Amino acid sequence: MTDKNHSLRTFHFERTEILAHRLIAKDTWQLTFRSSKLAQSTLPGQFFMIRLAHCNDPLIGRALAMFDRSTDTDGNLEALSVAYVVKGKFTQALSKLQTGQSIEVWGPLGNAFSTEPVDHLIMVAGGVGITPMLTLASDALGQAAFGTAKVPKRYASRTTLCYGARTRDYLAALDEFNSRGVELALATEDGSLGHHGRVTQVLEDLLRQEQGSVRIACCGPEPMMQAVSKLASSYKVACEVSLETPMACGIGICFTCVAKIDQGDGSWDYRRTCIEGPVFDAQSVVW
Ligand SMILES: Cc1cc2nc3c(=O)[nH]c(=O)nc-3n(C[C@H](O)[C@H](O)[C@H](O)COP(=O)(O)OP(=O)(O)OC[C@H]3O[C@@H](n4cnc5c(N)ncnc54)[C@H](O)[C@@H]3O)c2cc1C
Ligand code: FES
Repeated sequence: MTDKNHSLRTFHFERTEILAHRLIAKDTWQLTFRSSKLAQSTLPGQFFMIRLAHCNDPLIGRALAMFDRSTDTDGNLEALSVAYVVKGKFTQALSKLQTGQSIEVWGPLGNAFSTEPVDHLIMVAGGVGITPMLTLASDALGQAAFGTAKVPKRYASRTTLCYGARTRDYLAALDEFNSRGVELALATEDGSLGHHGRVTQVLEDLLRQEQGSVRIACCGPEPMMQAVSKLASSYKVACEVSLETPMACGIGICFTCVAKIDQGDGSWDYRRTCIEGPVFDAQSVVW
C-alpha cells in the first residue's frame, strides 16, 4: 500500500458535471465526470463518495473506485470515470442520469495499491471488482503519470488480468485492457468465455509457471478474495486486496466500514477501511 498514514487526509468536495455515461457490460455503467483536481490527485485503488445532486434519496453517498482518467485536447487530465453495477437504490437512480446533469463527489479517499517494482503484476478481479484495475495496469506499465507525479514511471515488466464473471455479458472493458498491453486470463461460471469455472483456477495456473517476482492485486466478492489470499500464501506471493465493506461517511467518522485486521501478534482489531484501507495486505485480513 502506498500510504500508511492512517490519519484523516485532505479530500476535495465538488458538485460536477457528467461528461459521458454509457453501458459497458450487462447492468454495468461507466460514468465520466469533470474534475481536473481529482484526476490529478487520485491513485489506483482510491475511491470517491458520490451523491446525487439536488436529491436526498438516498441521503448517504456510495463509495465508487476510480475506473479511468481522461485528458483534454492539450493532454491535461480533466476528467475521471467510475464504473458500477446496477444493484440497489443508489445505482438505480445513478443509471438514469444523463450527460450534462450533476453529481456530488468527494475524494480521493482511502489508500492505494503498492507501486514497488515487480516483474509480474497479476490483477485478480471478480465482477465489478474490475473497477480499480484499469488505472492500476496503466500506471504499472508506465503509461500514465500516477497521482501528482509528472513523469510516468513503469514499475511492472508485465501485467496480467485474471478476470471472472458469471457470463461473458458481464465482462467489461476487455478491449481497453487489451489495447493497454495487459494480458487477459478470463473465466466465466457458465463457460461462455475463457475458463469454465472459477478465476482462482486461472490464477493458480499462472502462479504455477512463475519464475520472477510476482505481486497480486485483488478486488471482488469476499469469498473470492479469501481464496486468492490463500493461494498467494501457499505460493509465497505478495497479495493486496481491496475490501468493499459498506460505508456511510467515507472519511473515518462513523465506523460502519470496519474490517478485522491482524495486529501481527496473533490478536486482531477493527480497522476503518475508508481511511486505513480499502487496500490491505491479504495476509493481515481476518476473513
Ligand atoms: C471502497 C469501495 C469501493 C467500491 N467501488 C465500487 C465500484 O467501483 N463499483 C460498484 O459498482 N460498487 C462499488 N462499491 C460498492 C458501492 O459502494 C455500493 O455499495 C453498491 O454500488 C450498491 O449501492 P446501491 O445503493 O445501488 O445498493 P444498496 O441499496 O445500498 O444495496 C443493494 C444490495 O447490495 C448490498 N450491498 C450494499 N453495499 C455493499 C457492498 N459494499 N458490498 C457488498 N454488498 C453490498 C446490500 O446489502 C443490498 O443487499 C464500492 C464499495 C467500497 C466500500
Ligand atoms: S465509512 Fe465512516 S468511518 Fe469508514
